[in-house]
Amino acid sequence: MSWIRVCAAAEVPANTAKKFWVAGGIPMLIVNYGSGFRAMPPVCPHMEEPLEDSGVVANCILTCTKHLWAWNLLTLEMQGETERPLQVYEVKQEGGDVFALVDKEILYDFETDDDMDDDAFFNKS
Ligand code: FES
Repeated sequence: MSWIRVCAAAEVPANTAKKFWVAGGIPMLIVNYGSGFRAMPPVCPHMEEPLEDSGVVANCILTCTKHLWAWNLLTLEMQGETERPLQVYEVKQEGGDVFALVDKEILYDFETDDDMDDDAFFNKS
């Protein structure tokens, strides 16, 4: 496990999120919530929506605008109807840069039980 420089802090202005590639191919979203940074997989844990596009950051809250799941970026608490926690890499700022502690890529376990096609679903008795 090692600290990896992801970007300059200035590359991600307050209340924005930007995707980077680190460690030879791990996609990582850096989110600046105003008083700090979070590093995380770049997809929503609900339905894999790319948070760089669907995510909105305001008042320390990251909201995925697709179905409004949201997380407090300071405490990582789930907000409202959100059903899955946000997974994050440990992050630190040093010398104007943002570093993430990376062991291996964090991947969400998206459910695969909707493999059933529509015909099979509607013909079920
Ligand atoms: S895909 Fe993000 S809330 Fe549903």
